[in-house]
Amino acid sequence: MSQHDTLDLQPTLTWSDDLVMNMDQMDQTHREFVDLLAATETAPEDQLLQSFTELIAHTEEHFSGENQWMLDVDFGPGGCHTDEHEMILKVMREVLRRGQEEGKLAMVRQLTGELAVWFDGHAKSMDAVLAMYLKDVQYDPVTRIVHKPQERAEGAPPPECGVPLDEAAPAA
Ligand SMILES: [Fe+2]
Ligand SMILES: [Fe+2]
Repeated sequence: MSQHDTLDLQPTLTWSDDLVMNMDQMDQTHREFVDLLAATETAPEDQLLQSFTELIAHTEEHFSGENQWMLDVDFGPGGCHTDEHEMILKVMREVLRRGQEEGKLAMVRQLTGELAVWFDGHAKSMDAVLAMYLKDVQYDPVTRIVHKPQERAEGAPPPECGVPLDEAAPAA
């Protein structure tokens, strides 16, 4: 075997149980996202942009699905969560453009590593809070029916957008 047949890259993030939110649709999409992200991060040079393009298409569906759930259940802090989705997609599209037009492949690969770190935090804070809320109101993502809509008590603060990560982390 010649010296550079494999790049021997390792993904920053692989699936683990602490990413499970016990909401089937969300967990399924998140597994696919983690797999596609890892495939992109470790892709050979000649497949990197193709893989990243697939990742962006998957992410567009992933985020718009969650954005729709937030609208369906009238999720208080939905704007903050949706804004973060938009910001991440904007960065992904811009880095794809620079990869395609300027040949900046190293930038694409570097972003995949950064996205892995971002996703780990996003899933465990914003997505975790959303999954919990969807369960509380007994939302069915197939029929899009909210079986137990919640009236917020008068004067009660709106729910948080995400769990601050230092609080979400297990005690040392
Ligand atoms: Fe998500
Ligand atoms: Fe999200």
